[in-house]
Amino acid sequence: MTSLDTSALSRNATPGSEWWRSAVIYQIYPRSFADANGDGIGDLRGMTARLDSLATLGVDALWLSPFMVSPQKDAGYDVTDYCDVDPIFGTLADFDELLAAAHARGIRLIVDLVPNHSSDQHVWFQAALAAGPGSPERARYMFRDGKGQHGEQAPNNWESVFGGPAWTRITEADGTLGQWYLHIFDSSQPDFDWSNPEVQEEFRRILRFWLDRGVDGFRVDVAHGLVKADGLPDYFPRAAGDSMGGDTDDVPYWGQEGVHEIYRDWHKVLAEYDGDRALCGEAWLPTVEEMAKWVRPGEMQQTFNFGYLMSDWKPDTQRRIIAESIAAFSAVGAPSTWVLSNHDVVRHASRLALTAENPQGHGIGPDSPGKPIPELGLRRARAATALMLALPGSAYLYQGEELGLPEVIELPDDARQDPTWFRTHGERYGRDGCRVPIPWEADAPAYGFNTTGAAWLPQPPEWAELARDVQTTDAASTLAMYIEALRLRHAHDLGLGSVEWLDGYKRKVVAFRNGDVTVLTNFGKKPLELPEGARVVLSSEPLTGSAVPQDVTVWLTAAN
Ligand code: GLC
Ligand code: CA
Repeated sequence: MTSLDTSALSRNATPGSEWWRSAVIYQIYPRSFADANGDGIGDLRGMTARLDSLATLGVDALWLSPFMVSPQKDAGYDVTDYCDVDPIFGTLADFDELLAAAHARGIRLIVDLVPNHSSDQHVWFQAALAAGPGSPERARYMFRDGKGQHGEQAPNNWESVFGGPAWTRITEADGTLGQWYLHIFDSSQPDFDWSNPEVQEEFRRILRFWLDRGVDGFRVDVAHGLVKADGLPDYFPRAAGDSMGGDTDDVPYWGQEGVHEIYRDWHKVLAEYDGDRALCGEAWLPTVEEMAKWVRPGEMQQTFNFGYLMSDWKPDTQRRIIAESIAAFSAVGAPSTWVLSNHDVVRHASRLALTAENPQGHGIGPDSPGKPIPELGLRRARAATALMLALPGSAYLYQGEELGLPEVIELPDDARQDPTWFRTHGERYGRDGCRVPIPWEADAPAYGFNTTGAAWLPQPPEWAELARDVQTTDAASTLAMYIEALRLRHAHDLGLGSVEWLDGYKRKVVAFRNGDVTVLTNFGKKPLELPEGARVVLSSEPLTGSAVPQDVTVWLTAAN
């Protein structure tokens, strides 16, 4: 298998200008992107067939959520074979074809790696169940005896991120009730024991398998969870609804010091390869300073800026999180990253107009309080995206946000598939609302997701107007704004630029300069008069006069 071999991509950049420092990375959620064989689930060949539209959009790289062999209990985040493609998505040959097609268009590709846990169907876990307590097979996972006279109580009080206990008791091979195993997520996702050298070696092998095929890097799932505090102490969350990050920095399964050793090791593995391969960590932590620990020299290249994603649509909050992020990441020599949506959160075209608390992962549905007004959500989402894409560093986009897709709120209960929905007995809707197959053509079956009309989650009728073909011919569409923002971002080299805050504007206006571009977002009711002599090169809404209305971002350059 060859490594990077295409002239469309630079190989090794000079330090400081590596591709991942400024890249716009588009997340493909494979089951919902494009379905080539018409079974209702997106696949690799569907992606290859639709690649030109992503080249037109102007993204630098793709991140693919998991497509490896999996029983799909958690949409592929439950892996049974890390080095092969699940038949519902295609074959390794399909993957190679996609990778080559992306590289030929100058687009890099990173894959999702899930090292915290496997599927319970993984051969290692099945062997662990069969082998019995104290065996080397059990030592690859977190098996413990229960508490209480007969081991009938879980080893500690931890709760699953998806709801319910984080421990499940097994029945031993002889039919008796036996040990318990830890699963920070669903019971079908047993946690590995990362203190075991065999686990460490297996993941080095998996990294090399994909690096040898030519991938440009990895998004590392639950990167903050691999190491658990010694003795597995009980944990009492301070805030209700605390899930992926915790409200404090002392959660015994998040952000333990030991995880960093793992990524220092992986850094060395990637460094054996050419082409500036990169690791991006999914580490939900309470502050950007905590997040920055993942990208210290010799560790990962990037980490998701969830502090930014979770920030309110308020001028003070936005200014603060942007400044804090740049300070915290620069302090360790890393680029800041920016992200507004992904497959785990309420889409930002809805989230930014919610009027009630919405903890990450809970989702919204028909009975949720504070449901957003769609027009307001979209207006804010466009302004937020235009603000984000003007920032230096690397930005992540989630498929469908370029169409302004909202969260799907009215999904029928019997269509829902997120384990959160089942584990909380419907108390939390979970994440299905941001995972609905995306619309391509207004008049085609399943809006062009495939040719049969099948879709693993039903698409709402109002998505016809949001289909890509409709937006392609509309200069005022959300898609047109994304394409123009990405073009200008490249032309003005904003990704490698810097933020210089501008004085002289009202508190309700976020104002900064990045290189030769001035960026203004008006959060206030009062329209903001454009500065004298400015030329508007981008606006998140069509402007009618010489003023910027509420919830609009503009990019300006000097008139000549
Ligand atoms: C990450 C993924 C999420 C998944 C979980 C368990 O948070 O983004 O989708 O459910 O890990 O693997
Ligand atoms: Ca398919």
